[in-house]
Amino acid sequence: MQKASLRIVRDMAISTVDKRLFGSFVEHMGRAVYGGIYQPDHVTSDADGFRNDVKALVKELGVTLVRYPGGNFLSGYNWEDGIGPKEKRPVRTDLAWRAIETNQVGIHEFANWAKDVGVEVNMAVNMGTRGIDEARQLVEYCNFDSGTYWSDKRIENGQKEPFGFKTWCIGNEMDGPWQIGHKTADEYGREAAETAKAMKLVDDSIELVVCGSSNSHMPTFGDWELTVLDHTYDYVDYLSLHQYYGNPANNLEDYLACSLDMDEFIKGVVAICDTVKAKKRSKKQMNLSFDEWNIWYHSNEQDKQIKPWLIAPPQLEDQYNFEDVLVLGTLLMTLLKHADRIKISCLAQLVNVIAPIFTEQDDNQSPAWRQTTFYPFMQAAKYGKGTVLTPLVSCDSYQTESYDQVPYLETIAVLSEDESEVTIFAVNRSREEMAFDVDSLGLTFGEVLEFSHMAGHDIKAVNSLSSDAIKPIASDSYQVADGSLRVTLAGLSWNVIRVAVKS
Ligand code: AHR
Repeated sequence: MQKASLRIVRDMAISTVDKRLFGSFVEHMGRAVYGGIYQPDHVTSDADGFRNDVKALVKELGVTLVRYPGGNFLSGYNWEDGIGPKEKRPVRTDLAWRAIETNQVGIHEFANWAKDVGVEVNMAVNMGTRGIDEARQLVEYCNFDSGTYWSDKRIENGQKEPFGFKTWCIGNEMDGPWQIGHKTADEYGREAAETAKAMKLVDDSIELVVCGSSNSHMPTFGDWELTVLDHTYDYVDYLSLHQYYGNPANNLEDYLACSLDMDEFIKGVVAICDTVKAKKRSKKQMNLSFDEWNIWYHSNEQDKQIKPWLIAPPQLEDQYNFEDVLVLGTLLMTLLKHADRIKISCLAQLVNVIAPIFTEQDDNQSPAWRQTTFYPFMQAAKYGKGTVLTPLVSCDSYQTESYDQVPYLETIAVLSEDESEVTIFAVNRSREEMAFDVDSLGLTFGEVLEFSHMAGHDIKAVNSLSSDAIKPIASDSYQVADGSLRVTLAGLSWNVIRVAVKS
């Protein structure tokens, strides 16, 4: 049996959690929009063609913000194609994903959907084929009151009140050679700075996210961030990070450790932001938007079979298994640990495309269903709001091919906004059971309100339309005595323990 302990101290807080930490992402690609959130012929669809069953799952998931409309798609997208009467909208080639875009969903439809499900829209401007002019016009269209060309066009198209989108991405993954309109750091940095200025001149209440690297393994990582921030530091509010993980080598111990890579990545980017801050003698702190993160590898082979120029092809349809639950749990905890700098993060993506919610293809009857990874995200979004406390952890560790010291326990505690309870999230990376002791200085534990876990499954087991077996269940392996909590964590498990706090 493994042994581990966690001490939390009321006065040692990392940060309060920005609710936008539990964001997600809907790109015009694959079956994310068409056949995902939007399917007019589905039995559950509303008058606008959006699926009510998907909406219900999005609400249950607890997503707070959704980045839109891309992604790689963004860098070839003309937003004007998606406004005005639907029958007049052009059908276009989507060069990023080599598919056909019908433009039946555009800004208005998406904004209405977002309002319906209660999420904030994180809008994005195309920096691939377009730039400053388009960006300022789009902000005017979306956020300007009335009486100008673009704001009046919005009103003509049925939206009297401005959409009032608050956060905006200046392009997507502009460091990537695959990106349409890929740029060097200097080219992008200069243009992003001027674009940011123009966008804020239209609406000075918006917040802007500038592109960091597409992942930490990009050859330009580090230099890209330094150069881009050198140009944009004064004009933007967040630097983006993207990272996806997978287990193509089928090495469980190594895969379970990948949150250590995410942790290093975040620390590195924070250091770069602070270097630029010091160099500029700036008083401003650059925060982070981790606006694409997830597990992505299951669908790599099947995607090679997909023919080009289809409408809504089944791209990136990863089917998530039980080991992905454990990894997703560790990634969520890593984001929470950096809540002092990460203010926005987006699980990429939301429906069908590397997503926690899945719908059946070419099927207008069956309900949407929850992938395995739906659950840790849902629980973190529900109980991870409040104040993250510094985790003082003691446990054994192991070594893998890629990592020297991997703690068997990954854990974090969050004090709820009303300070009435503490939620402890934990992943036991060990195959053995773990005796886990939690104590606190400055908080008195009361009763255990909930202990749920996901454990005991075949690590490759998945959910499907007909089986929802991989989900949290209640556990009674806990006791509270003398103000401390003792829990038994099953081998290879995701755990959520909610404890009342006595005032
Ligand atoms: O989320 C899928 C793709 O991954 C996005 O379009 C792109 O930004 C990233 O490379």
